Amino acid sequence: MGADLGCWNIADLRAKARRRLPKGVWEYLERGVEDETGMARNRDAFNALTFVPRVGRKVDAVDTSCTIFGKPSAMPLAIAPTGAAGIMWHKGDIHLARAAAGHGLPFTISSASTMDVEQVVAAGGNQWFQLYMWQDRELSYGVLERAHALGCEALFVTLDLPVAPNREYLYHNGFGMPFGLNRRNGTDMLLHPRWLAGVIGRYMLDGGIPAQANLPKKLKHSVARGAKPGALFKQDDLDWAGLAVLREKWPGKLVLKGVLHPDDAKQALAMGADGIVVSNHGARSLDGAIASIDALPAIVEAVGGRMTVFLDSGVRRGSDVVKALALGADAVMVGRATLYGLAAAGEAGVTRALELLQAETARVMAMLGLASIAEIGPEALRKE
Ligand code: FNR
Repeated sequence: MGADLGCWNIADLRAKARRRLPKGVWEYLERGVEDETGMARNRDAFNALTFVPRVGRKVDAVDTSCTIFGKPSAMPLAIAPTGAAGIMWHKGDIHLARAAAGHGLPFTISSASTMDVEQVVAAGGNQWFQLYMWQDRELSYGVLERAHALGCEALFVTLDLPVAPNREYLYHNGFGMPFGLNRRNGTDMLLHPRWLAGVIGRYMLDGGIPAQANLPKKLKHSVARGAKPGALFKQDDLDWAGLAVLREKWPGKLVLKGVLHPDDAKQALAMGADGIVVSNHGARSLDGAIASIDALPAIVEAVGGRMTVFLDSGVRRGSDVVKALALGADAVMVGRATLYGLAAAGEAGVTRALELLQAETARVMAMLGLASIAEIGPEALRKE
């Protein structure tokens, strides 16, 4: 058991994170896109599902453990890739990775991370790599070779950002990567001296605020010459033929992230992917997209148990984990839940987030009369 930090649910960690972060960083973590209808839709869709508990069953030894891609996991949950974690906490990715390893759960390194994959993998545990394609495909393939050589077993290719998302608040707040002080965000930062000293101050001592570290060397030179790293990602021409090339090049498990249509899930299966993430990117890509939990049942039916199905977007409680599994997901991923913990208290905060999600999951399972993950099924749920 880690420290309780005075936080008894993910919402408590969220409140703590909000107090600690400057507005620009907080809004980057928290907000969606355009009119932000998707944020509420993700939560409403979970809330519309109600449980039908069974009683009179032995639940004195509820077991949340499972296997994901053949490896034991403390529960069916993994930390989703989140670039810019390093702006919420000094070397944030390492803290996320360490907490996940300490809790026996997988962690996914983002290709948009502020840290090199080499540095993050050194934190230990079961780590996966997420890819956004750079405009020079050969350079992207080079990063994959690095990740594979380091022992990352699964590659997550994120498909739900074919073009840059419309996050208007980032312009208002003067927030961008690489992160830097400017006219719009200066006061905001000065109002958060603890964050300024603990994050930016420590990077200054290290020699500078990091940019996107996994940029291949050639692109780092372009950034040094003034190009925005975000502009160097190019996914608008990544189609199924491009994905087939990735399938050929990546010897490990291949997972397509951001699938919401059953036909795309079938296509993923046909091209030899090992898994998909049913996800609307936490309502950060297309505002009007279907909630991923609403998209899940048709996708589960389409793939018929022939690949690993992850679900993310809106998971804040153990009850959400159980609902996703009841509708046929093999595991969930969390983005913001663990980032709240990170921004609140570094590794201890991430550990607290994971501990809370696991305790809630076990408690809900007991209430439903379910002693193991394998027992969770659709009969536990009713849609309002
Ligand atoms: C993300 N997400 C994301 N996804 C990805 O494939 N690569 C990335 O670099 C990022 N970066 C990122 C940053 C931040 C601040 C957030 C909140 C999210 C999306 C992430 O992997 C996941 O799909 C969502 O976060 C899931 O929704 P919840 O759990 O945040 O509701």
